[in-house]
Amino acid sequence: MARTIVVTGAESGIGAACAEAFGAAGDRVCVIYHADAEAAQRSVAAVQARGGEAMSVQADVGDEYGVDAAFTAVERTWGAADVLINSAGLNMSGVSVRTMALEQWQRLITTDLTGAFLTSRRFLKGRGEAPADASIIHISSIHAYAVRAGGADYCAAKGGLTNLVETMAIEEAPRGIRVNAIEPGMILTPMNARAQSDPAYRQSLEQNIPMGRAGDPSEVADLAVFLASDHARYITGARIVIDGGLSLMQALGA
Ligand SMILES: NC(=O)c1ccc[n+]([C@@H]2O[C@H](COP(=O)([O-])OP(=O)(O)OC[C@H]3O[C@@H](n4cnc5c(N)ncnc54)[C@H](O)[C@@H]3O)[C@@H](O)[C@H]2O)c1
Repeated sequence: MARTIVVTGAESGIGAACAEAFGAAGDRVCVIYHADAEAAQRSVAAVQARGGEAMSVQADVGDEYGVDAAFTAVERTWGAADVLINSAGLNMSGVSVRTMALEQWQRLITTDLTGAFLTSRRFLKGRGEAPADASIIHISSIHAYAVRAGGADYCAAKGGLTNLVETMAIEEAPRGIRVNAIEPGMILTPMNARAQSDPAYRQSLEQNIPMGRAGDPSEVADLAVFLASDHARYITGARIVIDGGLSLMQALGA
């Protein structure tokens, strides 16, 4: 039976790949986009081309009222969402803490952490108290635990996301709602734009990955489809790394 899937950040990268993959599974997909309506339309068309139903709604995940309005639009069209994929996010600033503006810190935390809280909370409100076969998947990062200089904003947000996911997992388990995190390594999306346009730069990064290559967004989407499926019915509170082995190299520098 077709489910209702809400995907944030669905106009680009991993979110767009997730939207398409759930479309291929025959689901109804709401593409939540931030600013690029044309890109959102491409995601809608990709879902439809793969056999799913699709709609798009604009929302800033850091805006409580915008998130509420987006879920209300979905509920009016299809009823309560069955699955939330939260892929919306900003990349690390590259600025060290000693020079980071408060505004930068807040922008990243608001999008990558508060956005996860707001979308999850509104998803759960839509489900009500009744037990449900439903699930939330947050696209986190290996930087939730493998920190990088210049990444305090991003690493703090993704590290906080880990505890948000685990807390929600135990809160919602009695209702049957599963909450999990996917932790990608280097994936070729607009967030890694330089790696896509600069082969030498890409190679310099890929040589650190045991599997010798960056990941494709569709590989993350395949994992999301699995985690949202009945095959993953006993998995909750998990953080699943998908990085070609990259994070295993952490301690090999010295
Ligand atoms: N690409 C990677 O290597 C990589 C690695 C680990 C984790 N991630 C995570 O994957 C997720 C998706 O990133 P991506 O690689 O697809 O990058 P991307 O830049 O292609 O996609 C990010 C999406 O988030 C949306 N977004 C940004 N701010 C928003 C806001 N305030 N409200 C709503 N949407 C907003 C953007 O519009 C875009 O669609 C992010 O959470 C990112 O941290 C990516």
